[in-house]
Amino acid sequence: MPKEIKSIRDIPGVTPSIADKLEAAGYTTPWAIVVARAAEIAEKAAIPPKTAEKIIENARKLLGIRFKTAKEIKLERLNVRKITTGSKALDDLLGGGIETKTITEFFGEFGSGKTQICHQLSVNVQLPPERGGLNGKAVYIDTEGTFRWERIEAMARGVGLDPDQVMENIFVQRAYNSDHQMAIVEELFNFVPENNVKLVIIDSVTGHFRAEYPGREHLAERQQKLNKHLHQLVRLAEAYNIAVVVTNQVMARPDVFYGDPTQAVGGHVLAHTPGIRVQLRKAKGNKRIARIVDAPHLPEGEAVFVITDEGIRDLEE
Ligand SMILES: Nc1ncnc2c1ncn2[C@@H]1O[C@H](COP(=O)(O)OP(=O)(O)OP(=O)(O)O)[C@@H](O)[C@H]1O
Ligand SMILES: [Mg+2]
Repeated sequence: MPKEIKSIRDIPGVTPSIADKLEAAGYTTPWAIVVARAAEIAEKAAIPPKTAEKIIENARKLLGIRFKTAKEIKLERLNVRKITTGSKALDDLLGGGIETKTITEFFGEFGSGKTQICHQLSVNVQLPPERGGLNGKAVYIDTEGTFRWERIEAMARGVGLDPDQVMENIFVQRAYNSDHQMAIVEELFNFVPENNVKLVIIDSVTGHFRAEYPGREHLAERQQKLNKHLHQLVRLAEAYNIAVVVTNQVMARPDVFYGDPTQAVGGHVLAHTPGIRVQLRKAKGNKRIARIVDAPHLPEGEAVFVITDEGIRDLEE
């Protein structure tokens, strides 16, 4: 794991002139290089394929990407930390809260609470550990224009933090298309460690991809690009021990929806990416129901929570 920030210029074999070409092509960090394919780097940066291969290999060594023993993996798991959602019931369902070093996906129909949870987590990550936070800041990538500072203010008050200070600690950026969204994530490999960011949110992660690659004929291409994006996010989470939370809107009634095969099966878009998948459903009034999908290590069952003016809370019977 990179403790200090490493530059592509630290990679053996990267001369100043190669570094300039790599940077111009968008490869600004060693992580961006190890997750790319050699042929792609060679083409975009106009360097020989053999050189690109060697640089990837050296970048891997620099970042310590290699076999690990089971013991090492155990020790790494002990570093995993958790952020409270604001609801004890939902935290319990998640095994204590939203975990670092992994992606958590909230999926569900419109109004099911995905965006509200994202706002709440951006506030809660700033709490001290004894109150369920990480004393850290948040990055909020807003692809649909639904970020509202007013909600942050209300939620900050709700947990007794200074609203102005809380708002200073949330870095918001609109992503205007899928390429822009991916480029922002690339930049985060520098931004996150430099700014004590402990949570990255993408609300919604799938919207642009669905709009730009509509229908069955674009499905493979869309999925390939989305997979690459998601794997970047997994690496970001692992590299800096941060939580990554994404949302994904899916239809409540797949039986009445014909156009999009991935929608029809209920949000299988992210099914092949490692992480935690949480389905949200609307219930009566401000009640919402959460269920974990495909996570054998977490308890089965559902959690009920409510969305109040102050944010996500437990249902008080
Ligand atoms: N100030 C508030 N006080 C109480 N409840 C609120 C407040 N603001 C929003 N809500 C609740 O949150 C719901 C909206 O949830 P949210 O925006 O998180 O849905 P979503 O899952 O992100 O939907 P979409 O798929 O359309 O993005 C509203 O219907 C309302 O019930
Ligand atoms: Mg939303």
